[in-house]
Amino acid sequence: MQATARAQPNIALVKYWGKQTGGNNEPAVSSLSITLDTLWTRTHVRFDPQLPSDEFTLNGARDPAQARRVINGLEMMRNLKGIDTKAAVESENNFPTGAGLASSASGFAALVTAVDAALELSLETARLSSLARRLSGSAARSLFGGFVELWSLRPGEQESAAKPLLDAEDWPLEVVVAVVSEEAKVIGSTRGMELSRETSEYYAQWLNSADYDMEVCRHAVMDRNFEGLAEISERSCLKMHAVALATQPGLIYWQGPTIECMHRIRQLRDGGTPVFFTVDAGPQVKAVCLPGHASAVAAELDAVPGVKRTLITGLGPGARVVQEG
Ligand code: PMV
Repeated sequence: MQATARAQPNIALVKYWGKQTGGNNEPAVSSLSITLDTLWTRTHVRFDPQLPSDEFTLNGARDPAQARRVINGLEMMRNLKGIDTKAAVESENNFPTGAGLASSASGFAALVTAVDAALELSLETARLSSLARRLSGSAARSLFGGFVELWSLRPGEQESAAKPLLDAEDWPLEVVVAVVSEEAKVIGSTRGMELSRETSEYYAQWLNSADYDMEVCRHAVMDRNFEGLAEISERSCLKMHAVALATQPGLIYWQGPTIECMHRIRQLRDGGTPVFFTVDAGPQVKAVCLPGHASAVAAELDAVPGVKRTLITGLGPGARVVQEG
């Protein structure tokens, strides 16, 4: 009744921002992401009849903010098994939590994978992706490696799930994360999306153009068209932030160095370096580049005033069960 799983965060190139109103945490727009390699969450789950209640620790400390969603995940999967046994969940991240590096994505992908193994449910990966999506929309995508699509619900479907588009080895892009701030964001993505749906004048147009952006992006990936990928990814990112900025109150996830990094990346691309930026609901900048360019891009971003440090990673696999240790 115990197992350990590891999962990596993912970064959306076509962004998810907005939920459907019917519940189940269904996204209102489709998204396309890349799963990272060297950043990870490792989660150990142990079901124990002696435990009076579920327990959750993150990096060795209790984390009441995340515990509710972890318990929701345990409940969903206990119901599938038809048991009531409580669990101790120990999770560990090797990267900063809550600052736009999608720790919830790797966290909930690792959780459902570990619980599936601990309870011997043997669910298909698509099913695990749906379960993870209910806990955090972006987590659905970390069940798979490489390039991953998550289409919003199509007519006749009950639940959306992510699916793999292209393996990491088939187009091994590199990613440089420029860490601008390690403080947790002020308005989290769930609340931010809700506010945008309720108040942003650009929200309807954002929904209307999402499927088109997906098609453009998936073609760029399948054709290994880096310039096309750069164009659609930056556009989707900037549109998402335009929706956020037009929300009441305006959601400004960027800091000064965020914008400086975006300019620097554009200059590098104009000068021939194959690189583009994307930014999520936080100040960190992710620069995506063709293989062999990450070190040079990292050196450039390290030199931008206000950048605390950079991390380099490739593309990696989906969530999986690992042996202890
Ligand atoms: O999965 P959530 O609810 O944390 O939302 C993630 C939203 C963004 O990171 C801003 C975009 C995305 O598609 O990952």
